[in-house]
Amino acid sequence: PSRATRDDRGVLTLGGIPATELRDRFGTPLWVLDEDEVRAQARRARSAFEVAAAAHGVAARVYYAGKAFLSIEVARWVTEEGLALDVCTGGELAVALAAGVDPARLGFHGNNKSELELRAALDAGVGTIVIDSFVEIERLAALTSGRAAPARVMVRVNSGVHAETHDFLATAHEDQKFGFTLTDAVAAAARIREVPGLELVGLHGHIGSQIFGTAGFVESAARLVDLHAALSADAPLPLLNLGGGFGIAYTAADDPTPIEDLARGIVDAVAAECAARGIPMPDLAFEPGRSIVGRAGVTLYSVGTTKPVTLDEGLTRLYVSVDGGMSDNARPALYGAQYSVRIASRASDADPALVRVVGKHCESGDIVVDADHLPGDVAPGDLLAVPATGAYCFSLASTYNYVPRPPVVALRGGEARVIVRGETVDDLLARDAGYTGAARALL
Ligand code: LLP
Repeated sequence: PSRATRDDRGVLTLGGIPATELRDRFGTPLWVLDEDEVRAQARRARSAFEVAAAAHGVAARVYYAGKAFLSIEVARWVTEEGLALDVCTGGELAVALAAGVDPARLGFHGNNKSELELRAALDAGVGTIVIDSFVEIERLAALTSGRAAPARVMVRVNSGVHAETHDFLATAHEDQKFGFTLTDAVAAAARIREVPGLELVGLHGHIGSQIFGTAGFVESAARLVDLHAALSADAPLPLLNLGGGFGIAYTAADDPTPIEDLARGIVDAVAAECAARGIPMPDLAFEPGRSIVGRAGVTLYSVGTTKPVTLDEGLTRLYVSVDGGMSDNARPALYGAQYSVRIASRASDADPALVRVVGKHCESGDIVVDADHLPGDVAPGDLLAVPATGAYCFSLASTYNYVPRPPVVALRGGEARVIVRGETVDDLLARDAGYTGAARALL
């Protein structure tokens, strides 16, 4: 994390606070989110896209993709920094509304929004609904009939671009569930334009996540502008949303393109494509999630056991078990994601050892950090910090093996405070019809 340093005792400090102090106050595992950093990244993304768009005389709106990390506080931080907010379920919508976010600044996504979710979105007055199927068009036609103002909708387009990322993170190749193909999108737009309760405001595309280069975005933008040009021949189409997916560095091996360069590259490409077709450039929208919160998060764990395992090649790998695992970070198990680790509680001169940081779950794929080096004297009781865990860790968390989910602590101006409390054993058992309260005494 950009704001991590060591104090004169060798203790890692986060946002000016010693990690050991955070451990002593809040326990481990602990999700730490640097509010100042989230706000700074939100401002940075907004300015990158606004500046790039302004160079062509159009506006750009930046939505924070709430799926990366959404809580009431986080929704407030990003909207206070001038971002809009993208939600993709009724649950995320509820968080946004509970945070007091102006519904007009919400975008609502999802390939299978229920009637209940759509009605809630319409009642709340969300700014745009991104339509993902013909079924959804008819669902919305029924739900909007008789309403005073038409609902502003966009068509989610699968541009067919293969993003260079993990298969599960690529969302615009042909054989997956999101969006309309380029051909179907034409029919979808035509049908939407027939429905009195719907106002088609533009197209939406998103090619995937954790993408480092500009090429995929530019190619997708070209295909979307093509469609945009065809559809705006019939009636104006004021908006084009190109989604999110801007990658971040998880380890030193990662080298993502800075957001300013990505923004300029993508926006300039849209401008060139529009100019080539002789059409006015639409206003643009983007939806970064990971790049806003990813590097602002650090997870703190306590070491419980260590175990050297001799590998075939005569190498030794030190397995370091911590008090969390795949329940607070599913990404290594799901995507083979790589992270780094360091000892947060002390400095050490010991020779580096090859380590694998593993969790406490009953599963050998329960890996937190697949391969990194730690001082060879790493031992039970040490505090470990795993950086870049702000995105898709809290939001993907589970209670597998009845391991309670950790609290989230936010850092701001040298102060730490709990923004989501940790789960208790009572929370874990609360929905069990047979629970009598007896488990409380055990832990
Ligand atoms: N917009 C849409 C329509 C999306 O589907 C997504 C991510 C985003 C924006 C934000 O993408 P970002 O800027 O955060 O890359 N769980 C996976 C990531 C799944 C992303 C899903 N959609 C992971 O942990 O890597």
